[in-house]
Amino acid sequence: MAKISDPHGLHDWSSKEYVRDWATRQDRYEDKRRPQFQMIADAIPFTRNAAIQILDMGAGYGALTQFLLEQFPNATALCQDGSEEMAKLGRQRMAKWKGRVDYVIADFSKPGWSRAIHGSFDAIVSTIAIHNVRVPGIIEAIYRELFQLLKPGGCFLNLDLVFVPLAKQLGWLRAAGFSEVKSYWQEAREGLFGGRKI
Ligand SMILES: C[S@@+](CC[C@H](N)C(=O)[O-])C[C@H]1O[C@@H](n2cnc3c(N)ncnc32)[C@H](O)[C@@H]1O
Repeated sequence: MAKISDPHGLHDWSSKEYVRDWATRQDRYEDKRRPQFQMIADAIPFTRNAAIQILDMGAGYGALTQFLLEQFPNATALCQDGSEEMAKLGRQRMAKWKGRVDYVIADFSKPGWSRAIHGSFDAIVSTIAIHNVRVPGIIEAIYRELFQLLKPGGCFLNLDLVFVPLAKQLGWLRAAGFSEVKSYWQEAREGLFGGRKI
């Protein structure tokens, strides 16, 4: 697969060494991130024992996915990422979840990315991933495309660096067809926001 683009040249997600180093550095923040993951789990509008299907976009090695699989013991998850190396690491780290988790490689900056993803979802979630594409029009198009992957009643929850003003992104979600669009939390440059498909 073609290398996923990083317009600011900050990351090389296609490099095994870069991905392993990034993941090792990121491990130090896992405890700090748990309250953020908890906010996402609490915002998912299903009971904890529901057999929901989750799509984690730009899932990385699956930090959020693992948290959600613990909190929703009957859930299954599909981790989407554009990096083969990240998916390899995720498969290793999530070996104990075999049967409940799978990976799909897709570059969400390219229109039509969702064709690689089969099925529909009760919850589409994402943490610190979508901002990587940087271009506002592409982020807007990602929201439009992912709306089609949700089941009626499903939700999208995005915890991300908010380089594009939140009010603008909430407007994109409404224009994509989402209802109950709202911001759940914002601190410094990070925010958790999303909406529902009714
Ligand atoms: C900062 S990491 C976050 C990983 C994970 N969501 C987490 O919170 O630990 C960003 C992830 O987004 C993925 N990514 C970046 N650009 C992408 C793109 N255009 N399409 C799909 N995945 C992308 C990277 O490969 C990487 O795994």
